[in-house]
Amino acid sequence: MPLPSPSRSRVRVLLAVAATLAAHVVAAADDTLREQAASLFGAIAAAAPETVAAPEIELGRALFWDPRLSADGKTACASCHLRADSGADRRKRSPDARGKLTRRHAQSVLNAQRASAGLRWLADRASGAEQALGSITGSMGFDDRAALEAALRDHGYAGQFAAAYPAEPDPVTAEHYARALQAYQETLLTPAPFDAWLGGDDAALGAREKQGLQRFIETGCGGCHAGPLFGGGSLQRFGVVEDYRPHTGSDAGDTGLMARTGVEADRDKFRVQPLRNVAKTGPYFHDGSVDALGEAVAVMARVQLGRTLSPQAIREITDFLAALSGPLPAHYAPPGAE
Ligand code: HEC
Ligand code: HEC
Repeated sequence: MPLPSPSRSRVRVLLAVAATLAAHVVAAADDTLREQAASLFGAIAAAAPETVAAPEIELGRALFWDPRLSADGKTACASCHLRADSGADRRKRSPDARGKLTRRHAQSVLNAQRASAGLRWLADRASGAEQALGSITGSMGFDDRAALEAALRDHGYAGQFAAAYPAEPDPVTAEHYARALQAYQETLLTPAPFDAWLGGDDAALGAREKQGLQRFIETGCGGCHAGPLFGGGSLQRFGVVEDYRPHTGSDAGDTGLMARTGVEADRDKFRVQPLRNVAKTGPYFHDGSVDALGEAVAVMARVQLGRTLSPQAIREITDFLAALSGPLPAHYAPPGAE
């Protein structure tokens, strides 16, 4: 039976009031979660266009993408830090300029310069420049720094080095190569829907992503994956509650920080991996042993926190983690590619 019209309009008013109240409740929930997230994590912003156009950064960009600057003439930084793989490498291990496979899995260079504990799986490089200096005789395969400097001159880089470092009498040096690479990588920032939401845009995250963020915090993930990168701030044991190897299928070989220090307390310690763009940078862990993000999340919950997550909880967390992926910067490509 149709309602008489006065009460129908009353129902409409009541429905409108209820909808407004619900919106307030959701907004209030957003505010509480946002406060929590702001204290645990933090936002990142894209590099300013005028910064990206500076001569030092243009030089760094050219160096990063140039395969001629390697012992085999075929290996660029970008060979193992691919645009198609969001700055990482979908291969478990990557071939270097000597034809050898890297010892560990290549991480993404996007946002990485912000990692406060230092770079790489063991945080054993304090800065991007230090990392790049190590690459010369490492991944790039040169016998020494002089061989790189000769390659830079041979391939016509003198003018660009002089433009980037105008006050230096002898600008073509390995130190400047390293500084320019660091400066370029500092501009490789990828703000994501999470950052827009943290800045006040309630609609930037969907309900499931917000639930996933809540789960991420409640489960204890943020205890290690903290700061604006969701990691990169400390070294922790991989396998706090139990050995990770039976869960990842990893071999016994890699003992992490202990392999360097020989100290038993450092066994299986690795840098807490940042989670920016993590949905796009599989396979996961220092040996690339796990392919699916959901599985990596389940392994983490199990071996770091002693928790078995339900399939739904895992889906919520992976949905949230996908909201940490931002568009690739246009200048994360060879010069002239935009
Ligand atoms: C042969 C493959 C390969 C090449 C070439 C290569 N890298 Fe890497 N890169 C890796 C691997 C593997 C790691 C992880 C190393 C580790 O921790 O043991 C890594 C780690 C890094 C990191 C640390 C990221 C983080 O999250 O801490 C940065 C930065 C980086 N590389 C920059 C560069 C630059 C700059 C160049 C060129 C000078 C370069 N890479 C060349 C394979 C490569
Ligand atoms: C006790 C510290 C700690 C806690 C708690 C922790 N993690 Fe981790 N996480 C790490 C470390 C250390 C690594 C690097 C492991 C390695 O060597 O591969 C890592 C790696 C990861 C990776 C792989 C990233 C990549 O690019 O390879 C994901 C995904 C991840 N953690 C998600 C989570 C989630 C989700 C939770 C909560 C369920 C969590 N973590 C809890 C320390 C922690």
